[in-house]
Amino acid sequence: MSTPTTKPILSPSLLSADFGRLDQELADLEGAGLSWVHWDVMDGAFVPNITLGAPIVKKCRPKTHLFFDVHLMVDRPERYLDQFLDAGADLLCIHAEACTHLESALSRISHGGARAALALNPHTPLACLDYILPQLDMVLIMSVNPGFGGQSFIPFSLRKIRDLAERIREAGTKTLIQVDGGVTPENAESLVANGADVLVSGSAFFAHPPYSERHQRFLQEARKGLGSAGK
Ligand code: DX5
Ligand code: ZN
Repeated sequence: MSTPTTKPILSPSLLSADFGRLDQELADLEGAGLSWVHWDVMDGAFVPNITLGAPIVKKCRPKTHLFFDVHLMVDRPERYLDQFLDAGADLLCIHAEACTHLESALSRISHGGARAALALNPHTPLACLDYILPQLDMVLIMSVNPGFGGQSFIPFSLRKIRDLAERIREAGTKTLIQVDGGVTPENAESLVANGADVLVSGSAFFAHPPYSERHQRFLQEARKGLGSAGK
């Protein structure tokens, strides 16, 4: 699937959805005009929680046209790349802290036909992108410590987003910047103004139905930030 490109994009995190009726949740998101959906895969090792694996993603794949943005909070994610590619992930995001041979894992994702993305925990410096930025379709800036929904946005993440946007401009790549953790309509404008392209929201999205209205509210706020940060 081609990457939907009208920015800013909202990618609702299914972590806050009703796992007992995932297919209905996906239909409701699509019906509400969303184009992306964010899958949080947690392994109970890289992060304390366990959520879902590739078989669930695969079962849901035929039920929707949504762009599957899959965030692997998993130790040694290279063990599972083939499973998630086969499940129909459109984008696979692995953590820099969890993968020893990043260049190879990212190449496998791209060659497997998905967008390749790298997530950075709040403390992880942008320097780890120095040589691999051209390989990345997206960088995910974690603005909370991964593992749980409903946490507060870590303020220094804003500077990190701005610094990353500057690096991407200098490198001349088309790498998207995604932000995940504590994202709300209240901070959406400043996130986009500092360079964010894709906003992930779990609790601040799903707790406020109807989804179409919530989506519009996020977009309305996020679009106010356009025009800054060269976006
Ligand atoms: C957290 C996950 C997030 C989470 C965000 O580790 O990666 O995607 O669902 O939840 P909120 O938006 O509630 O902070
Ligand atoms: Zn996530």
